[in-house]
Amino acid sequence: MTAQIKETLQDGSKTVILKNDELEVWINSKGCTILRLYVKDRDGNSQDVVLGHPEVEDYEKYVLYLGATAGRVCNRIKKGEFELNGTTYHLPINNGPNSLHGGIKGFSFAQFDTELLENGVRFHRVSPDMEEGYPGNLDVTIEFTLADHTLNIHYHAQSDQDTLVNLTNHSYFNLDGEPSYIGDHVLKLACEEFGCVDSDGLATGEIRNVEHTPFDFRDEKKIDEAFDDSYDQVQLGTGIDHHFIFNQDHDQAILFSEKTGIEMSVSTTLPGAQIYSANFLQGEPGKYAKKLPKRSAICIETQNMPDDIHINSENPTTLLRKDNVFDSKTSFTFKVR
Ligand code: BGC
Repeated sequence: MTAQIKETLQDGSKTVILKNDELEVWINSKGCTILRLYVKDRDGNSQDVVLGHPEVEDYEKYVLYLGATAGRVCNRIKKGEFELNGTTYHLPINNGPNSLHGGIKGFSFAQFDTELLENGVRFHRVSPDMEEGYPGNLDVTIEFTLADHTLNIHYHAQSDQDTLVNLTNHSYFNLDGEPSYIGDHVLKLACEEFGCVDSDGLATGEIRNVEHTPFDFRDEKKIDEAFDDSYDQVQLGTGIDHHFIFNQDHDQAILFSEKTGIEMSVSTTLPGAQIYSANFLQGEPGKYAKKLPKRSAICIETQNMPDDIHINSENPTTLLRKDNVFDSKTSFTFKVR
């Protein structure tokens, strides 16, 4: 396994390449953004299984969060406002009436320090008190490591004041190795329940059982089967754009491409994931001169319950108390069928 700095860009960010016999991942230190992830298909050819833009500058231009870390709080916070310890905090409104993915200058566009490790890379930054409206100096470390067929991401954060934290990686996966229609991929989710959204994509707090809904992925099925516009939540989310609640502690999501034979299995210590079928892509420029059409990928954004500060205000899972530790691990394991 090798870890090396490929280049330092004009904005000071570094692109790191981690490589072993099975996987190769390119990560830029701005937003700890996964730019490329090469996996071998059933014929032994390398396929880049994440969407990306042609240039690193494009990531901030199009704000699709391709491959990026979303934080300090991923997903939506209602009206960009919350109360904590008697103080009301105001966040940038950047998605309809709500605040999305940590605000306008969230972690996706922040510079992290880079330290190469024997088996990966460690990114670090301190998000200052009141950055994008959030209280507390938040010390964040994100490690990416490779082990055989697995890419591991380990998040660690600590604050000097009570604050909110919900960190995820926002990779858009397409195991065909190109931005093809994601409806043809097969998905299996260890989930009996999902969270409903309103027409702005905000979590409403209503939890539904997946049974007899298009979102029943307990047995693997084509993602296309979920795009059933007669179902209210498909209409409201413009497809799949919902928090799924896991009912087991490993291999909670399994994605498969018939075309390349690549299977990806996602394991996480977190209780759920926003599953997003890239409904809002509109043909923006992608790598290898290919445009990024609507529904050409799927994001499996492992996280705590979105907008929990409002939904579960008594005991929000997204609350990080002063000097407590936020620690989570998510891994992506690849094999071929
Ligand atoms: C959200 C989508 C949003 C996308 C890109 C996802 O996490 O749920 O609604 O369009 O991120 O911002």
